[in-house]
Amino acid sequence: RKDVGILAMDIYFPPTCVQQESLEAYDGASKGKYTIGLGQDCMGFCTDVEDVISMSLTVVTSLLAKYQIDPRQIGRLEVGSETVIDKSKSIKTFLMQIFEESGNTDVEGVDSTNACYGGTAALFNCVNWVESSSWDGRYGLVVCTDSAVYAEGPARPTGGAAAIAMLIGTNAPISFESKYRGSHMSHVYDFYKPNLASEYPVVDGKLSQTCYLMALDACYKHFCEKFEKFEGKQFSIVEADYFVFHSPYNKLVQKSFARLLFNDFVRNCGSIGKEAREKLEPFSTLSSDESYQSRDLEKASQVAAKHLYDEKVQPSTLLPKQVGNMYTASLYAAFASVIHKKHSTLHGQRVVMFSYGSGLTSTMFSFKLNGGQHPFGLSNIANVLDIPGKLEARHEVLPEKFVETLKLMEHRYGAKDFVTSKDATLLPPGTFYLTHVDPMYRRFYARK
Ligand code: ACO
Repeated sequence: RKDVGILAMDIYFPPTCVQQESLEAYDGASKGKYTIGLGQDCMGFCTDVEDVISMSLTVVTSLLAKYQIDPRQIGRLEVGSETVIDKSKSIKTFLMQIFEESGNTDVEGVDSTNACYGGTAALFNCVNWVESSSWDGRYGLVVCTDSAVYAEGPARPTGGAAAIAMLIGTNAPISFESKYRGSHMSHVYDFYKPNLASEYPVVDGKLSQTCYLMALDACYKHFCEKFEKFEGKQFSIVEADYFVFHSPYNKLVQKSFARLLFNDFVRNCGSIGKEAREKLEPFSTLSSDESYQSRDLEKASQVAAKHLYDEKVQPSTLLPKQVGNMYTASLYAAFASVIHKKHSTLHGQRVVMFSYGSGLTSTMFSFKLNGGQHPFGLSNIANVLDIPGKLEARHEVLPEKFVETLKLMEHRYGAKDFVTSKDATLLPPGTFYLTHVDPMYRRFYARK
């Protein structure tokens, strides 16, 4: 099958957000801690009328309408999420309402969960299905949906919320180079959700940063080996036009790209410039363990990678900096930012993606881009995403209101028999929202 990959995309994020600068002041953190220290500008969050189900109903309905896809043309629907609303009933089954209306109940797929990696697992499932002998010729649909909220403390500013939908099929403008996937999976307690009565994770922030970087190194090694085996030449960062990372917060993305440059230096890649080589030389004798702890290496490699970062990474940072960590949707929102900024020049280019989910699961994989055919062209995808319009339409709220909302949601999590404020005034037309949860815990949604 030719060019299996992503044909179309759409994104939804809540219209409510809080500025990191004002949150910093409210929390009594030192000035610049969230904006420069974490590299974040703004954070989106769900109020009591939105959740991962309403956001995914909104984004799927919107994608089908904007690309004029008949719901009967979908043969597989996979959801990635780590936001648990029900321990048994999948989010996918809620989305079946959209397909049942058209008489289509012949839709494979359920939810995939492992922290921020579930969306990638869902995407691989759909791509593998289209490439397999059980494919029935219809489209696959992948939905990544999460609301990332943390208890009060240093992790709280690294929240966010969004849902992304991606249509999967052949002759795609965004096609997989499936042979080069490199994964690293391991048992670690860096971020997990053992308390089923709370939406908040237990997180060892420092450990999770190191795990992320170690997973990045391992995936890059496997990715390079596979590339080299099939292409007969060494892989280094010059072989890709863009690198897109799962983005818990922007500072980690800066460190990650610098780490790839350090990997190229250690692998003695010919592509490393003289200047970068000189900056990294003092660290050539560090053991692998020491290299994760060295603040000097971190700083020196970030400086050495700066101009390549501006070129190959910066275009992907728009939504992650503006909306925050969207968990499963984070990597794909970063990729959507590249399409938004660069759609007219992406033809023939390669994008390397790094997906990380704590616990831990991770994969590096790559896309090859081409113009595509209407409505599945890159410029039409950029139009549909309408990132500037959606950012522009947001409403900033004060930190007090954000904290109050999170308090309310703590009580609502796992609760039954309540009605929401039904205040959908801030939601754009066509948005689904939660109206009430009945005494049997059944959830009901309406559309604005
Ligand atoms: N101005 C500029 N920079 C500042 C300032 C300031 N006033 N104050 C602090 N900083 C910098 C620090 O130097 C540090 O940057 P550096 O790493 O480049 O040195 C950065 O701000 C963060 O500050 P720390 O004190 O190191 O860390 P903090 O206690 O704020 O916690 C953390 C940050 C660990 C990321 C926390 O927010 C967290 O636990 N988040 C959730 C876990 C997470 O996202 N993990 C990533 C992968 S797993 C996942 O996706 C969920």
